[in-house]
Amino acid sequence: MLINPSSPHSDDGWLERHIVDPSLKSQQPIVLETKQLRVFYGDNEAIHEGDLKFPEHQISALIGPSGSGKSTYLRSLNRMNDGVARVTGEILYRGVDVNRPEIDVYEMRRRIGMVFQRPNPFSKSIYDNITFALKRRGITDKKVLDETVETSLRQAAIWDEVKDKLNKSALALSGGQQQRLCIARAIAVKPDILLLDEPASALDPVSTGKLEETLLKLKKDYTIIIVTHNMQQAARISDFTAFFNMGRALEFDETSQIFTSPKVQLTNNYVAGDFG
Ligand SMILES: Nc1ncnc2c1ncn2[C@@H]1O[C@H](COP(=O)(O)OP(=O)(O)O)[C@@H](O)[C@H]1O
Ligand SMILES: [Mg+2]
Repeated sequence: MLINPSSPHSDDGWLERHIVDPSLKSQQPIVLETKQLRVFYGDNEAIHEGDLKFPEHQISALIGPSGSGKSTYLRSLNRMNDGVARVTGEILYRGVDVNRPEIDVYEMRRRIGMVFQRPNPFSKSIYDNITFALKRRGITDKKVLDETVETSLRQAAIWDEVKDKLNKSALALSGGQQQRLCIARAIAVKPDILLLDEPASALDPVSTGKLEETLLKLKKDYTIIIVTHNMQQAARISDFTAFFNMGRALEFDETSQIFTSPKVQLTNNYVAGDFG
C-alpha cells in the first residue's frame, strides 16, 4: 500500500476510512478524544493521524497488525511517550488538552492510569504495591490505606486469592495474579481512565478469562482502552473497536459492526484473518 509517510495528509483523500463518533451510538459522554494526533520517533512518523473519541464507561479496543502503531497511540494518551517520541496534536481529556507543556503530568497520569503488557509489580509486599502511590501522595492514615488495599484488590477481582498474604512478596504471585495486582495498583489512586497494552499477552487462557471478567466489571467505574492482539478478546469484551493499520486508525465503530460488517476492506481482511 502506498502511503507516503513524509506527507501524511496529502493522500488522505483516497484512503478508505470509516470513523464513527461513539456519542452518536451510545448514551455515554466522550471522556477522551485525540485530534490530529501525530507521533514521531526521530524522523519516523509512527502515527500519521489519530482522530478518535472514547466514550465513558465503555471498553474500547485497539486492534491491528504488529507495528501498526497501537502501543504508540495508547502510550501517547497519558504521555508515556514523553522523552521518547514527539507528539503533536490535541489529546482532550474531559475537554482539557493534556498534550500541553504546562500540564501536571503526574496528576494527569493519576487520572489516566496504565497497565503494561508484562506484569510489573514492585519487588515489595502485595500491600505495599497498592499503597505505594498513596504514600507518595502523603496519605499515611492506616485506616484509609487498609480500606484502599481491600477495595482495589476486590475491584481487580483478586482479593479472595491474596487477603491472607498481603505482606508476602508480590513477586510470589502467578503471572495472572500479578497482572490483576497491577490493575489493583492502577485503580488504587482512583483514576478515571485505564489504558491497558496487551495485558493478557503473557497469561494462560484461565488467567486471561479472569482478567477479561475483571475488565468487564471495572467498566462500571472506569473508562477502559485496551490494545489487544487477540481479536476474540476484543470481540468478547469491548463495546467499540478501532482498527489500526500503518499508523492510522482506518475504522472505528461498535465492536459488533467491526466483526460482522466492517465498512473498510482492510478491516475486513484483518478480522477475517488474512493478515496480521
Ligand atoms: N521506542 C521506539 N523507538 C523507535 N521506533 C519505535 C519505538 N516504538 C515503536 N516504534 C516504531 O513505531 C511503529 C509502531 O510501533 P508500535 O506502536 O509498537 O506498534 P504495535 O503496538 O501496533 O505493534 C513501528 O514501526 C515501530 O518500529
Ligand atoms: Mg504494541
